[in-house]
Amino acid sequence: MILPITAYGDPVLKKCAEEVSRDNPDLQALIDNMFETMYAAKGVGLAAPQVGLGMRLFIVDASPFGEDEEDPEALKVKDFKEVFINAEMVEETGSPWVFREGCLSIPTIREDVTRKDRIRIRYFDRDWNEKEAEFDGYAARIIQHEYDHIEGILFTDKLKPLKKRFLKKKLSDISKGIVDVDYKMKFPVPKVRR
Ligand code: NI
Repeated sequence: MILPITAYGDPVLKKCAEEVSRDNPDLQALIDNMFETMYAAKGVGLAAPQVGLGMRLFIVDASPFGEDEEDPEALKVKDFKEVFINAEMVEETGSPWVFREGCLSIPTIREDVTRKDRIRIRYFDRDWNEKEAEFDGYAARIIQHEYDHIEGILFTDKLKPLKKRFLKKKLSDISKGIVDVDYKMKFPVPKVRR
């Protein structure tokens, strides 16, 4: 089932998400729905707050990166598909690098964000196997972006104040649904009739 994606401005995107319970009987169905929702919106990552749920859960499928045959770094992540439950970032190391990020909750906006290029993260996969793993390059980047979602952080929070001011009107329009988007969304602010 495709779920509506929560748009910028919804308070659920600003909240630190809560631990997922092992007893949650709806968890596997939710994960399946999140994958379906992410594929329908052509994303490579999706976090539970983006479907309105304040849960420490996000999914990644970087296979679209495999289409870029010119970029060896992109090809490296084409088989990277994983579910991250109750993730905790252990460390972020390496050199800072710039990548143009986008977010399904903030359609039409893409901006350069600087992050470190290597991470170590602890999490449970969808079968509740506990894992601790290192990622770098695009894999690290996608995880950092999705991990921020479960901490209540959006990539726009990381932009310089001047850039943020420049985007203010566009962001406010997105929260009202005044945006051209081809997947199902839920907008937090009602459109004002004039
Ligand atoms: Ni995002």
